[in-house]
Amino acid sequence: MPMSPAEIQQLRDLMEYEAARTAPPEGFPALPDIPAGRYVDPRYYQLELDHVWRKSWLLAGHIDEIPEPGCFRLWENAGQPVVLVHAEGGAINAFYNTCSHRGAPVVTEESGKKKRLTCQYHGWSYSHEGELMAIRDPEDFRDLDFSCRGLKEVRCERFGNLIFVNFDEEAPTLLDWLGPIAAEWEEFQFDKCRLAARHVWDLDCNWKIAMEANTEVYHVRSIHPKTVSPILDDRRNVNTLYLNGHGRMVAPVPAGDRGNLDAVGVPDDVVQIDTVGEIARTCTQSYGLFPNLVAPLSAAAIPPILFWPNGIDKCRMETWTMAPDWGDGVAPDLWTDNNGESLCQVLLEDTQFGEKIQKSMESYGFKGVPLSYQEVRIYHWNQAADQCIGIENVPEELRVQQVIGDEWIYPNDPRLAFVSAEVPARQASPERP
Ligand code: FES
Ligand SMILES: [Fe+2]
Repeated sequence: MPMSPAEIQQLRDLMEYEAARTAPPEGFPALPDIPAGRYVDPRYYQLELDHVWRKSWLLAGHIDEIPEPGCFRLWENAGQPVVLVHAEGGAINAFYNTCSHRGAPVVTEESGKKKRLTCQYHGWSYSHEGELMAIRDPEDFRDLDFSCRGLKEVRCERFGNLIFVNFDEEAPTLLDWLGPIAAEWEEFQFDKCRLAARHVWDLDCNWKIAMEANTEVYHVRSIHPKTVSPILDDRRNVNTLYLNGHGRMVAPVPAGDRGNLDAVGVPDDVVQIDTVGEIARTCTQSYGLFPNLVAPLSAAAIPPILFWPNGIDKCRMETWTMAPDWGDGVAPDLWTDNNGESLCQVLLEDTQFGEKIQKSMESYGFKGVPLSYQEVRIYHWNQAADQCIGIENVPEELRVQQVIGDEWIYPNDPRLAFVSAEVPARQASPERP
């Protein structure tokens, strides 16, 4: 369900409001500095591992990577050994890749297809549902209960063709976690998008430093003068904050109503998602899904970028391109040159300062980060991170103050008092994704 005309008008009005304002909106709080320790202090890094990475829904894979029953794929981006399995009945399951006998991996290849997952250490074998099916020399075990020696499951849910996992048995469902974003994403048909490209890049900085370059448009005129700036009117950018730390930016192309596909030179004959509405066709729109997914969306491609910690001062950036079926044509790859040989110019620009910023954060001289209203999504993320960790668990000197109140969280938005009449919040339709 694309945005209604009233919603579109409201968003357009908000863009004009942003362009015209001469200060942050009335009532918007001053944002206290983000303590530099959150990027360099091992205590905060450990809290992130124990809470943020453990309790959040994380994008782990795409159905195209395990398209048929029996297909499996290893996934260790969040530090835990996980295997994703396409089961006989069509379900996608996730398990710790850990044999219930003595912990050897039940899968050693990156990916493949198997009838059973058989541990190579002593031969225990498991079904695609994780049940222990057979062991060698069962007569030598006394009272081994097969029913409680299966593979340990990891929560796994799909949003269309995307496969998400969560290590927390108590976590809300993926749809609850996404909240209103699930309805907003319906027009992109995630159940039809194919995976065209997925690449990994190792960067020498804390993962949040890398991600934050993709969580604000304040930097656009400085580091993207020739690439992004001509196609993104940053003064008309509208940020929206959602529950659970998610956020969205929408900014028109500077010339007004020219489609963003024209602006970035996407050829006319490229396959487009026919249900995508006006905003995604005429604006740059990107979502931040807590904790680590930046998801630009357009009518021609869905190219999310993900950030994973790889130690406190190193991270792994993944670039994906998803698109409607491109038939026999060349699979599109928005973020790299020569099929993953190097990052594209825009991402080279975005990642250029990471290592140096990390050094600054580690220096005696750097104490904290002052953020502007334009960078509000970064602050919102940090508030959500502390909430996820448990505010009292965060050492006081590493905390962010919870200054952005619920009145700024969708569907609340004090800016609406300055623009057109109220528009009802969208509901997810039950049949999608
Ligand atoms: S560790 Fe897997 S069968 Fe022994
Ligand atoms: Fe950028």
